[in-house]
Amino acid sequence: MTFVVTENCIKCKFTDCVDVCPVDCFHEGPNFLVIDPDECIDCTLCEPECPAEAIFAEDEVPEGQEIFIQLNADLSKKWPVISEVKDPLPDADDWNGKQNKIELLEK
Ligand code: SF4
Ligand code: F3S
Repeated sequence: MTFVVTENCIKCKFTDCVDVCPVDCFHEGPNFLVIDPDECIDCTLCEPECPAEAIFAEDEVPEGQEIFIQLNADLSKKWPVISEVKDPLPDADDWNGKQNKIELLEK
């Protein structure tokens, strides 16, 4: 099993999740983070840390967001590892909770 970053991370990227991951399995794109399913050890630590509540266990991904399971797998092979917390994106608080952000995902 793996954990999965879902839509509400887009344009927020708070990065609190990165601080607790013991195996550095987060990868960073321009406005979104993903988890490498081959590296995640299912420790559950990141899930409660995300201010946007964007992280779910693979089998608890909300209905309609299943596409993010494959997106995490694919984009984690392409994007570099992020292992240190950084500032959220500008206006992250405004974007937290907005719907249909997948259209804004920069790959
Ligand atoms: Fe990292 Fe654990 Fe979260 Fe997996 S569940 S991404 S290992 S913190
Ligand atoms: Fe994204 Fe939440 Fe991490 S917004 S960067 S999954 S703390």
